[in-house]
Amino acid sequence: MFDSGNPFLNGNYAPWREEGDAFDLEVEGELPRELNGALYRIGPNPHFKPLGRYHWFDGDGMVHAFILRDGRAAYRNRYVRTDGLKAEMKQGRALFGGLIDKAREPSPELPPFKNAANTNIIGYANRLLALFEASSPHELKPLTLETVGLFDFGGKLNGPVTAHPKFDPRNGDLLFFGYAPFPPYVTWYRAGSDGKLLESRPIDTGLPVMMHDFIATDDYAIFFVCPSVFHLENVPAGKPLFIWEPQHGTKIGVMNRKTGDVKWFQDEAFFVFHFLNAYEENGELIVDGCRMDSLDMTGNSFGGKPLIWRWNLNLKDGSMRQSQLHDGFAEFPRFDERLAGRKHRYGYFTNGDTESPQNATASKGLLKRDYQTGKTEVQDLGKNLAAGEPLFVPRNAKSSEDDGWVLAVWYDQARDRSEMIVLDAQNFAGAPVARVKLQHRVPWGFHGNWVPAQ
Ligand SMILES: [Fe+2]
Repeated sequence: MFDSGNPFLNGNYAPWREEGDAFDLEVEGELPRELNGALYRIGPNPHFKPLGRYHWFDGDGMVHAFILRDGRAAYRNRYVRTDGLKAEMKQGRALFGGLIDKAREPSPELPPFKNAANTNIIGYANRLLALFEASSPHELKPLTLETVGLFDFGGKLNGPVTAHPKFDPRNGDLLFFGYAPFPPYVTWYRAGSDGKLLESRPIDTGLPVMMHDFIATDDYAIFFVCPSVFHLENVPAGKPLFIWEPQHGTKIGVMNRKTGDVKWFQDEAFFVFHFLNAYEENGELIVDGCRMDSLDMTGNSFGGKPLIWRWNLNLKDGSMRQSQLHDGFAEFPRFDERLAGRKHRYGYFTNGDTESPQNATASKGLLKRDYQTGKTEVQDLGKNLAAGEPLFVPRNAKSSEDDGWVLAVWYDQARDRSEMIVLDAQNFAGAPVARVKLQHRVPWGFHGNWVPAQ
């Protein structure tokens, strides 16, 4: 135990530091034969005892791959070998501080902060990329999870890339942005499905903020500028990097993808970590996501309760309205991503435990929302089980929305072990169709994606 007083280093947030391979895992139920590929998940997993106060976002990225083929399952996990982690491994101890506590011995040989490569993992241009929003992606080998090195889009982009890029369903283009504490603060990018950077465009948001996610349609890219403001001057003093400043309000920039023109909408302060989707309907942009009233990035709690909200942005008269659609904790929204930028009907979320200060992933179960009827269904995991982000995999390329499976990793507190579960999306509250059992736990992580076998 690194620090018994820090919730992000205990329970199932505590790191699992062994790397390994396991074949022919025990499966309860039956794995659908259509699931041929790998579920990659990633999360923070500090390899060494942190130097100062540890924040959940600081830990070294570890990839967990569940490889499914012909109804059988294998598992492999590896750390992303970042330059920072390699330097620490050489010395056998932590050398870097983190988001809320710098606590680092100054060294000209080390970069000022660690690219932790811990937030999201995607298949892109026949590569596996581990993403961390403050820096460049790391490329990994899809089968062995060996770290190849930093990925720079053929030498064209050496800088921050959001952990939440989107795929354009029309052509496979990768749509993304990077943010920084210096003007223009945000840069929009588009890259082809072959890994080539095709477009970059600065967007002056007027305020240097933490921007975790964005959302795009065929015609627009939408950026929420929520006032979790950079304070670089805090870092040498060991103080938190981001401070919540509600006096700025939240503004929403809608960029026309053809012209680059940005239309701004302004409202009271709120924060969004994750969006579900956005689409155009009757002259409005409709944006679905999870909203918190405020954000605290200075300690062990995020200081707010994420709820399902919808924003209606009127592109003609510049008005906006926002509405709360559900009153229970919900986060880590996912949907059928073939509908990115188009009208969706269903969303899948973690379903919360409002009493847990680390409620972001210590969910009580999983939730499915029907946006057409307003109905929700819950996969209730009972007392000892909790699950992370649920992601949707279609049955096949032609199947309709919601015809497929929801994949998640759950943690059984009583047994201190994790399982990968497969739910039939259309029988969401029913028992999992398959449970893939590990002999150890997978710490609460952030995001993952399904990559079909080639
Ligand atoms: Fe995220």
